[in-house]
Amino acid sequence: MKNRDGFSTSLWQESLKTEAPATTPGSGPFDVIIIGAGITGMTTALLLLQSGKKCLILEAHNVGFGTTSGTTAHLNTVIDTPYADLISKFGKQNAILVARGAAEAIAIIKGHVDQYHIDCDFAYKDGYLFSQNERERKQLDKIQEGLEAVGIPAAQSATIPVPLPFDKAIRFGAQAQFHPVKYLSALLQQYIAAGGSIKEHTAAGSIKSEGAFQKVHAGQVEYRATDIIYATHIPPGINLLHFRCAPYRSYVLALELANDQYPDGLAYDLQEPYHYFRTATQAGKPLLLVGGNDHKTGHEPHADHVFSELEAYARKYYDVRAVAYRWSSQYYEPADGLPYIGHLPGGGEHQFVATGYSGNGMIFGTLAARILCDLIVSGDSPYAGLLSPSRIKPVAGFSRFVKENADVLKHFVADRIKQESLTELSALAKGEGRIVLYEEEKIALYKDEQGKLYALHPVCPHAGCIVQWNSAERSWDCPCHGARYTVTGEMLNGPASEGLRLIVLDE
Ligand code: FES
Repeated sequence: MKNRDGFSTSLWQESLKTEAPATTPGSGPFDVIIIGAGITGMTTALLLLQSGKKCLILEAHNVGFGTTSGTTAHLNTVIDTPYADLISKFGKQNAILVARGAAEAIAIIKGHVDQYHIDCDFAYKDGYLFSQNERERKQLDKIQEGLEAVGIPAAQSATIPVPLPFDKAIRFGAQAQFHPVKYLSALLQQYIAAGGSIKEHTAAGSIKSEGAFQKVHAGQVEYRATDIIYATHIPPGINLLHFRCAPYRSYVLALELANDQYPDGLAYDLQEPYHYFRTATQAGKPLLLVGGNDHKTGHEPHADHVFSELEAYARKYYDVRAVAYRWSSQYYEPADGLPYIGHLPGGGEHQFVATGYSGNGMIFGTLAARILCDLIVSGDSPYAGLLSPSRIKPVAGFSRFVKENADVLKHFVADRIKQESLTELSALAKGEGRIVLYEEEKIALYKDEQGKLYALHPVCPHAGCIVQWNSAERSWDCPCHGARYTVTGEMLNGPASEGLRLIVLDE
């Protein structure tokens, strides 16, 4: 089983069979270095390779380590941001372009499935959105109007595929679902077979432009390429995009049912936070995926309780025999409702980025691959202007929204302290982490199942916010821009570029 950026095991995680080759690809020059091997990086690299570009992927952990192993892999043209909102913010033609882009992403995935005979449980499904009260009904009416305006037929439906009460429902066809890691695994195989280079467990460090090249330091090597792509979910460093994207956590359960009530379709309610349903199969047996209960990263003090709430919600409507898997994952909510795909702000002509996918990572990750490939190969894309990371759209209240996450700490405690001086230790349960006070300074403290303590400086090295304990994934999460760390301080995901400093606890 491959690792992912969390303590819990996702349904998909065990399926990544293809090993990236351990061979050293040499330092270049390459045409393009792609940093990150999730859906965005892997698809972009394959498309670029097919366009004749010499590519290297640098992955800090293993292929699929990030959100691609934690997604629920819905393939929607009906994206999270309602088209009615997009029409009012960006105009009807641009909203239509987004709808076309989402359909194009599904077509790219289906094209790969057919071309490479990928066994990844790809299936077209109808999608259903339903309201449960007057307020939601009005919202649904608006969503339906928006869908019709961008050319996505959405008829009222008298039934929904899940046993929940509803007062109105709409149905829309040509949505899909798949197994994201089996798909990723197949793309990796194709990429390697076509001569692509990849280095796992190789974190990209500093990047500088010199002459005709972008130079990337990773380990002891300086790799060179004409173009660089950050396919890291959120780019590292301090960038405008960290003030345009807010990190969120989302939760999911994979359930075995005691009867055969598995829904045929994708269903979404309109609660806040919302819930969704799809099915999957594992070893020939069906599972029901129920997800939702999203919250801002680092803003839920009892993340493990979210699983209990989600389970109670599912048990209200389904006869659940067992919870086979439960896991959570991260996504970035963009300020104006659309992702940022194109040139990295402040990065010049040869650095590219894709981020802010909201809950539509498989769709926008795939569309990003098409856009970035076109920008690099031909210098243009029909989506370039609309999704430009440097676009300036009015985002009322969003800066405050990002800033209010911040709790910046300027002082640093010592690197070595006596365990007995931590007064709150006795209250810490096994498996629990907490920010505790030591001589009026904060420490991130975790007690493992054997009672061993791990202490860390809680100051996120990205921009100085204080990390918060995530009990669902046993990680330290930064509430500001979403960097996450293990209990021993190693970085799980950016935008930080180093881990948390360990404090030695003397007996
Ligand atoms: Fe920006 Fe932590 S991720 S301060």
